[in-house]
Amino acid sequence: MTEELEKYILQHIDAEPEHLRRLDRDTHVRLLYARMCSGHLQGRMLKMLVRMINPRLVLELGTYSGYATQCLAEGLLHDEAHVHTIEIEDELEDFISQHLAQSPVRDRITLHIGDAVDILRQLNQQFDLIYIDANKRDYTTYYDLAMAHLRPGGYIIADNTLWDGKVTDPACHDAQTRGIRAFNDRVASDPRVERVILPLRDGLTIIRYSG
Ligand SMILES: C[S@@+](CC[C@H](N)C(=O)[O-])C[C@H]1O[C@@H](n2cnc3c(N)ncnc32)[C@H](O)[C@@H]1O
Repeated sequence: MTEELEKYILQHIDAEPEHLRRLDRDTHVRLLYARMCSGHLQGRMLKMLVRMINPRLVLELGTYSGYATQCLAEGLLHDEAHVHTIEIEDELEDFISQHLAQSPVRDRITLHIGDAVDILRQLNQQFDLIYIDANKRDYTTYYDLAMAHLRPGGYIIADNTLWDGKVTDPACHDAQTRGIRAFNDRVASDPRVERVILPLRDGLTIIRYSG
């Protein structure tokens, strides 16, 4: 997408709330790998998908600065609905918590620090929507675990599933590209689900568990 088109899109979709604009700016100033932050367009997309799915229990694997977490929580409609998010890097905890404290949706979010695989097993809950956005090498492991914790009729959304176009580049054999390819192949051949890949940003796969 050209910069001009992206600018045009951002001018014609819902504005980025002020507290998320501050979070995005602070992420770029204080954290490494700020490119991982979802940002305005993907954030509004996630909020809209939550509005459409209307889940009660949401799980995010890979919090980073908490931008997508807050967008997922913003979309919740049920009074009791809640987002659990898991981040492995404990040095991000203060940053995430500082920004959560200023968020209008802070009461709807629980942050867990630890490995997504361990914590998901401990949570032992059935989710309506699971957003996979952690280590690309482990996407198939997350997928199998997510399917075991997803209620029939629930959804998985997975980010970065086109991995900067590397999925189709025969010269790319790194572990992350292999992880994403294995995930895409697994999802494509799973008879339990319906799936679609949106070429939004780095590729967003939406999966429905038919049950
Ligand atoms: C792409 S970033 C997440 C971006 C965030 N979801 C957003 O959209 O703004 C991936 C994050 O996953 C975390 N991560 C990697 N492996 C993990 C694991 N096994 N469990 C939990 N988090 C993990 C990384 O530390 C990093 O902060």
